[in-house]
Amino acid sequence: MALLDVRDLKTYFKTDDGIVKAVDGVTFSIEKGRTLGIVGESGSGKSVTCLTIMGLNAKRNTITTGEALFKEQDLLGMGMRRLRQIRGNDIAMIFQDPMTSLNPVHKIGNQLTEAVLLHQDVTKKQARARALELLKAVGIPRAERRVDDYPHQFSGGMRQRVMIAMALINDPDLLIADEPTTALDVTTQAQILNLMNKLQEEFGSAIIIITHDLGVVAETADDVLVMYAAEVVEQGPVNQIFSRPHMPYTWGLLGSLPRLDAETERLVQITGQPPSLLRPPSGCRFHPRCPYVMDVCKQTDPPLKPVTGDIDHYAACHLDEETKDREATKLLAGMVAEARTG
Ligand SMILES: Nc1ncnc2c1ncn2[C@@H]1O[C@H](COP(=O)(O)OP(=O)(O)O)[C@@H](O)[C@H]1O
Ligand SMILES: [Mg+2]
Repeated sequence: MALLDVRDLKTYFKTDDGIVKAVDGVTFSIEKGRTLGIVGESGSGKSVTCLTIMGLNAKRNTITTGEALFKEQDLLGMGMRRLRQIRGNDIAMIFQDPMTSLNPVHKIGNQLTEAVLLHQDVTKKQARARALELLKAVGIPRAERRVDDYPHQFSGGMRQRVMIAMALINDPDLLIADEPTTALDVTTQAQILNLMNKLQEEFGSAIIIITHDLGVVAETADDVLVMYAAEVVEQGPVNQIFSRPHMPYTWGLLGSLPRLDAETERLVQITGQPPSLLRPPSGCRFHPRCPYVMDVCKQTDPPLKPVTGDIDHYAACHLDEETKDREATKLLAGMVAEARTG
């Protein structure tokens, strides 16, 4: 049984302009101790997927259907009280900007201590010891002294470490990290990703990491969900997605990874903008931007189909298998050659 089993999740927002179908039939599951990367351009529905699972959308203008079974209990039908118990305890979340989750007027140590006291039956002294333990675990130097600092006294990278400490402090089974390193410089980003990998081994949480960057996925994930315009267009184990990508959109994401030689022209470029989710394109939603578009793509939305010869690998594309294998091989060979000459 999966830790989290999401089935045919749909999140529609009622707006003045019409209905925004922000998540439109997303299905995935995650096992204990695994890391799932959700990747796609900005606006593809990654954040809304996770906010919906956590019950964090405004009720009044949101229509949600489907299931999100966490330890076999549907989070979507759960009362606010029970959901609040689960959030911050069984499931924790970190966001791109730690300042949105840290209170600027309270000392770091007090905020961490409060988080423990809210969910665990311990003394204040024990909670504070736990806070210090976590600050050390996430690599805050001189943690004994920094525990009484305020959030603004920390750098961006250090604040994100504090957020990770906050998220892990009650030993969650699932950690949802929404673009946790996007605001950070490359070096700090690498440190934070390393830290998350290390802490996962130690704490054994399952992680959902949301990112627009396939590079981050390569660093952290066991499994990948590629989202485009509110739908899943490809999913599978990370090594299969990187060795045999089967959807032109995924090729585009791979093709836009930074190269050693920045001057080299990209092999596959995604041009144009992601579509409006008020009126998504007919057929395959990627068709207006797809270099391989055929007539059928404009009419019929391709279902997710198993990729022949792979295990647990699915892609949604009308191209025949032979073409997809040939193009993927060409793309990957090009990337390797570029890296060698670059
Ligand atoms: N509360 C809301 N009301 C209306 N539209 C929304 C709301 N929240 C998000 N959206 C829209 O839903 C789409 C998906 O957003 P989001 O999940 O944040 O994308 P991502 O995280 O992949 O960048 C976007 O088009 C966004 O504008
Ligand atoms: Mg987002």
